[in-house]
Amino acid sequence: MSKITAAITGINGYVPDYVLTNDELATMVDTNDEWIVSRTGIKERRILKGSGKGVSIMAVEAVKGLLQKTKTAPEEIDAIICATITPDLTFPATSNLIAQKVGAKNAFGFDLAAACSGFLFALSTGAKFIESGSHKKIIVIGADKMSSILDYKDRTTCIIFGDGAGAALLESNHEDLGIQDAILKSDGSGEQYLNIKAGGSRYPASLGTVQNHEHYVYQEGSAVFKFAVTKMAGVAKEIMDRNDLKGSDIAWLVPHQANKRIIDATAKLMQVPDDKVMMNISRYGNTTGGTIPLCLWDYEAQLKKGDNLILAAFGGGFTWASIYLKWAYSPEN
Ligand code: UT7
Repeated sequence: MSKITAAITGINGYVPDYVLTNDELATMVDTNDEWIVSRTGIKERRILKGSGKGVSIMAVEAVKGLLQKTKTAPEEIDAIICATITPDLTFPATSNLIAQKVGAKNAFGFDLAAACSGFLFALSTGAKFIESGSHKKIIVIGADKMSSILDYKDRTTCIIFGDGAGAALLESNHEDLGIQDAILKSDGSGEQYLNIKAGGSRYPASLGTVQNHEHYVYQEGSAVFKFAVTKMAGVAKEIMDRNDLKGSDIAWLVPHQANKRIIDATAKLMQVPDDKVMMNISRYGNTTGGTIPLCLWDYEAQLKKGDNLILAAFGGGFTWASIYLKWAYSPEN
C-alpha cells in the first residue's frame, strides 16, 4: 500500500462585514494612516461587532462554507481542531461549540493555543491523525476575535489586529501530495514581551485587573519585531534547506500576516520574489490564528496541483513554525 500523506482538500474563510479603517482608528488614538501603512502595511481590518458574539460565530461560517464547497456531510468529519487564543469561553472548547453548530456529530475536538503559529501547529497535529490512518477527515481552523482582547486606547497594539477565521479540510492522499515536512518551535521566555496578564489561573479576573487594563494584549513591539524577523525567516529557510528547495522551487510563500516588513524580510532570505508571496495584510491586518488560512482562501484560485508551498509563522509564546506542503488540487474550471 502506498504511503498516506495528509492533504488540504478544501479551504474557506470568513471575515466580518465591519471595516475598521486607519482613518477611523485615528479618531480613537493618536495615530494616522501614513504611520500605520508605512510601519505595518495595514490599511484596514475587519471587526465582529455586537455583544454576545464569540469567535465561534466566524469559525462556524468558515466551516459551513467549507463543507458546502467540498460537498462533505458534517457527519463525515472525524475531528475539529480549532487554533485560537480568543475562545468563546475558558471551557468548553470552542471546537466543541463549532462541531455542535455545524452538525459534526461524530467529531471529537479540541482547541490549540499557539497564538499566531496556531494554525500551523494545528495543521501538523491534524496531519498526524490522517497519516496514521486512524482518521479520515479533519477540519483545522485558525480563528481569532482579536477585537475582544485589544485596548482601543493603546495605539501600539490596536492598530495591528483584526478579526477573522479560516478553515481547511484535511484528508488522506496517495499521490505524495499534501504535507511533506513541518518544524514547530516554542520558547516560553517570550512571555515577557507579548502576553495578556490577567484572566488566567495566575491572576484571575478582579475589579483591579479590569481597572488596570490587564485583560488586554500587552506587546513590546520592537522586541517582538526583532524575534519575529529572525525566527520566521530562519525557520522558513531551515525547512527549505532540509528539503533541498531553492527559491525558484517555491510556487508560494504563505507567511503569517503580522507586519509587511517581517514578511518582506522572510521572502528575501528565502529568495522568493514578491509575486510569489501571499499577502492580504492590507485588508485584514493581523488576525492571529486566521492569517494563514485566510491567505490560502484568498489565493485558492491561483493554486495548482503539485505547487510547492512554504507556510511560515511567528507569534506569542514565543511560537514559530514552518510547513512545507505540495498543494493537492487545481481550481475547478
Ligand atoms: O503577530 C504576533 C507577533 N507580533 C508581531 O510580529 C509584531 C511585531 N512588531 C511590529 O510589527 C512593530 O514593532 C509595530 C508595528 C508594533 C511597531 O512598529 P515599530 O516600527 O517597531 O515602532 P516602535 O514601537 O519602535 O515605535 C516607533 C515610534 C514611537 O515613538 P517615539 O518613541 O519614537 O517617539 C512610538 O511611540 O512610533 C510611535 N508609535 C506610533 N505612532 C503613531 C507607536 N505606535 C504608533 C501608532 N501611530 N499607532
